[in-house]
Amino acid sequence: MLNIEEYVDIKQFSSLKVGGQFRYFSIISKKEDFPSLYAIAEDDGKYKGVPIFVLGGGSNVVFSDEVINVLAVKIEIKGFDIVRESDDYTDIKVGAGEVWDEVVSRTVDMGLSGFESLSGIPGTVGASPVQNIGAYGSEVKDMIQEVEVYEIETGKIFNILNKDCKFEYRDSIFKNEAKGKYIIISVVYRLNKIISPSTALSYPGVMKFLEEKGIQNPNLKQIRGAVIDIRKSKLPNPKEKPNVGSFFKNPIVLNEVAYKILEEFPNAKFFSLKDDLTKIPAGWLIENAGLKGVSLGHVSVYDKNALVLVNDGDATSEDIIKARNEIVRIVKDKFGITLEQEPEIL
Ligand code: EPU
Repeated sequence: MLNIEEYVDIKQFSSLKVGGQFRYFSIISKKEDFPSLYAIAEDDGKYKGVPIFVLGGGSNVVFSDEVINVLAVKIEIKGFDIVRESDDYTDIKVGAGEVWDEVVSRTVDMGLSGFESLSGIPGTVGASPVQNIGAYGSEVKDMIQEVEVYEIETGKIFNILNKDCKFEYRDSIFKNEAKGKYIIISVVYRLNKIISPSTALSYPGVMKFLEEKGIQNPNLKQIRGAVIDIRKSKLPNPKEKPNVGSFFKNPIVLNEVAYKILEEFPNAKFFSLKDDLTKIPAGWLIENAGLKGVSLGHVSVYDKNALVLVNDGDATSEDIIKARNEIVRIVKDKFGITLEQEPEIL
């Protein structure tokens, strides 16, 4: 049987260090635990109607301050197994509870390419398909083959193929129509044996970093090293400055909206997408609305990167939401663009 704890403090699981208590809490460390979770969910007793919330690394969620009436399930399922191999690629099945960056490090050490630009991202493997993690031109969707899930309502275990996950920028079915429906057990990733130029190398910041170090044809480890160092300079360490990484998504707007802003700010760095759309860095909008480094209650807009909100120590979730609303309002007033938050709110 699963061991279920009651009234468990959330802050210890939150990289933003906010949150009250989980009404119920349990840890799942192997696939064999799922039948007892099913028995609990089906039970008519005290767990009746209590939703299951899946907890990964807690690095992309803003938890409310009160007692949250959920059964929080922390997934600690491990595993790293090669399931297929050809001359060109290696498919690896990884347990949802593995730490993402340890997996990246391992695949880089194996000489496999695909994950190097995604180095240094906090969180677990189970979270990687949910928000289609991305950085330095790579998105994990390009490496995902299939996602193994446990369906809460039926107790069944099956695979969802990449094409059925509806991956988009920081989005998937797991955040939309399938939200709360599945628990991710493992993910199969396809990595390349043939080293193609890394997406990170198209980022001027990464190129500049490598040039300064005198590195001409960087190998995977050197690219990983560069990405980690650049991240460290832009993203605060959650252990010192509690945060959830980017707090807002980069808004995608019609070209005409971007052109209007460019008239007033000719130096703005926007990114053209297909279909008359432009991606505007939210960090740029927040900075140019005069908010970089500003303190809003117990929450600051990080002084080295306006996309990150930092809990100054004793912020509550309410303080975070107030700061968010204030930033959204000020950016909307100045640029007419409504920012959307990136982390989940529970
Ligand atoms: N910028 C500013 N002011 C700021 C911050 C950024 O003007 O305070 C400008 C930069 O100068 C640059 C542009 O915004 O021209 C883009 O900045 P950057 O390359 O740092 O990336 P980002 O768009 O701010 C995204 C991801 C990050 C990821 C980086 C690197 C989102 C929401 N964020 O940030 O992901 O690491 O690109 O690829 O898409 C995360 O999701 O938590 C995260 C950290």
